[in-house]
Amino acid sequence: MKKVFVLIGVLSAVLFSSCTDDSEYTVVVSNKIAIGKSIFFDKNLSNPIGQACASCHAPETGFSDPLHRDVSEGAVTGTFTNINSPNLAYNVFSPERTYNTTDETYIGGLFLNGRSPNLKEQLTHPFIGPLEMNNGSIVNVVSKVRNASYFSEIEKEYGVAKTDEELMSYIADALVAFETSKEVNSFTSKFDYFNKQLIKFTDDEKKGLAVFQGKGKCAQCHVLEPDERTGKILFTDFSYDNIGVPRNEKNPFYNQSIAVNPAGFNFIDLGIGVVVSQPGHNGKFRVPTLRNIAISAPYFHNGSFKTLKEVIHFYNVRDVNPSEFSAPEVLENVNRDELGNLKMTSQEESQLEAFLETLTDHYRK
Ligand code: HEC
Ligand code: HEC
Repeated sequence: MKKVFVLIGVLSAVLFSSCTDDSEYTVVVSNKIAIGKSIFFDKNLSNPIGQACASCHAPETGFSDPLHRDVSEGAVTGTFTNINSPNLAYNVFSPERTYNTTDETYIGGLFLNGRSPNLKEQLTHPFIGPLEMNNGSIVNVVSKVRNASYFSEIEKEYGVAKTDEELMSYIADALVAFETSKEVNSFTSKFDYFNKQLIKFTDDEKKGLAVFQGKGKCAQCHVLEPDERTGKILFTDFSYDNIGVPRNEKNPFYNQSIAVNPAGFNFIDLGIGVVVSQPGHNGKFRVPTLRNIAISAPYFHNGSFKTLKEVIHFYNVRDVNPSEFSAPEVLENVNRDELGNLKMTSQEESQLEAFLETLTDHYRK
């Protein structure tokens, strides 16, 4: 974000006033969630069969690629998208895309470049896309669903669909119910227990949180204020920024056929700039959640960073020791105000990492 308020010193106010209730952020009957879950894990819904949504968005990695690949392989062997499979959990709460004139940034939208308006629209893309589940059209998806074991559950819940479009809208509704459910977004990290004052942080974790808010400036974009819709801390304000991430020279997308990637090795990902046709936004990607970040390597839109240590060091010294890193993929619009020269000590870098490790769900006291 461009203009932000510095949060130093409001730690307790932010943390202890906000996230203490357990109110539902989405009211959905559990049947829909169960149906959505069956669809999400159904490997028969690809062409050839064998790939489900969960093949690229698995629970054990924060609903990102279970194999930690830079970019995931499609249902057709040898096909690859250009983007690292993002953590679905918490990122699914991105609102419809708007432009905020005060902060001069877009906010919200689905996909890392915001090109899809909402979750229902978004999920048609992976079902159809040749680099994902490769069904070609919705007609093929619904005919597979008609043969699925859970089809009777859909009819029980939604009624008998008169058209393919109607059935597809039921499929989408159930998938969204699952994607926004507590099963996917459980808010059960060590941080959440700490935030509810049920446990204490170690000294390093506490100091890491202070660095996150203060010197490290992380909370200026990965915000600690509760999100408006969910009332929960999502560690993103869903704004867009170019933080100067280098290309991933090993991205297999560069070697895709000319039909898929006409630019070949010279492909440059302009992020939201190309979606809104505004060069002033070239190179900007949506700020992602940091929940489950320790289990969802590699990092950034192209998977170019393999460890949190490297990511943190990049934020700290990008502009001090530029020779340590390759040039930004997009040189325009790089944010040099909030990162790149943070003057963190190596101890503070480690403390920040310790804090990020508290954001993994299913913490047990
Ligand atoms: C082959 C791997 C693959 C499969 C299969 C797949 N996805 Fe994705 N998904 C991705 C990638 C890669 C992106 C990011 C693409 C981008 O931003 O341009 C993504 C993005 C998303 C997003 C947007 C996340 C965000 O932060 O904006 C949602 C939601 C999503 N997928 C849901 C699904 C659902 C539902 C299915 C099944 C119908 C599915 N995906 C199947 C790879 C996959
Ligand atoms: C100016 C806004 C901004 C600030 C400040 C910021 N980030 Fe980010 N962060 C982003 C954006 C935008 C991305 C996605 C960039 C991309 O993929 O190209 C990102 C991505 C990340 C990722 C990778 C997430 C993933 O799922 O791959 C991590 C980890 C991360 N940031 C940690 C931090 C830490 C730690 C700090 C503080 C030292 C910080 N960020 C400060 C905007 C910011």
